[in-house]
Amino acid sequence: MSVKSSRDLEKLREIGRIIRLTLDHTAKAVRPGITTSELDAIGGQVLEEHGAVSAPPKVYGFPGALCISVNDEAIHGVPGQRVVREGDLVKLDCVASKDGYYADAAVTVRVGRVSSEAEALARCAESAFTEALKVARAGYRIHDIGRAVERETLSCGFRVIRELCGHGVGRTIHEEPQVPNYPDARHKARLTEGLVITIEPIIAAGNAKPVLQRDRWTIKTQDGGLSAHYEHTLVVTGGSPILVTAA
Ligand code: CO
Repeated sequence: MSVKSSRDLEKLREIGRIIRLTLDHTAKAVRPGITTSELDAIGGQVLEEHGAVSAPPKVYGFPGALCISVNDEAIHGVPGQRVVREGDLVKLDCVASKDGYYADAAVTVRVGRVSSEAEALARCAESAFTEALKVARAGYRIHDIGRAVERETLSCGFRVIRELCGHGVGRTIHEEPQVPNYPDARHKARLTEGLVITIEPIIAAGNAKPVLQRDRWTIKTQDGGLSAHYEHTLVVTGGSPILVTAA
């Protein structure tokens, strides 16, 4: 969607704030011994308390409030009996709606002491996001975002999972345009003021090839390489974008 009124912006900020609360609250609960379904229940409760509805179950029939992906699982991990352990990377991804407005954000949580590779990967997802923000403004092209994400990721010694990308958002989960994490020449449209998109580096150590698991939801890396994810929903302006899912 493109923001056309102050009400649009208010409503996006409202659902963005609820998603931030949900992710922060759930991230605080991540510790060795907890299961991903317990984490999901915590996140789901925050959404409910604030009158928000998790989008993946509603729109796609996903079996969980949050997508929770551990280590080599990149995205769309299904909450279940998996026990979180010291050293894990736990990716929490939350898309939710309120009053018909949707926002989307994700974080990578380090569980206790993590390996230096895991730490570098998690930081890289964040720095790739920060680099991309610099070109997420009206007048730049969509592939400028992907160029910034991939350049930063490669400079950290990792790869983007090219098959997974950011997207338009606001009135449902996935809207036009797609926002790839590499400079895809086909995505030469220019960003316009008011456009609502996600920027979400989804990166991995190793060859960064994705495979769909038997559960038909979870996407993990084919070679078992660790994966990290960092995401916000933002509104494009002529200057710095408005991050609706930031604190
Ligand atoms: Co997203």
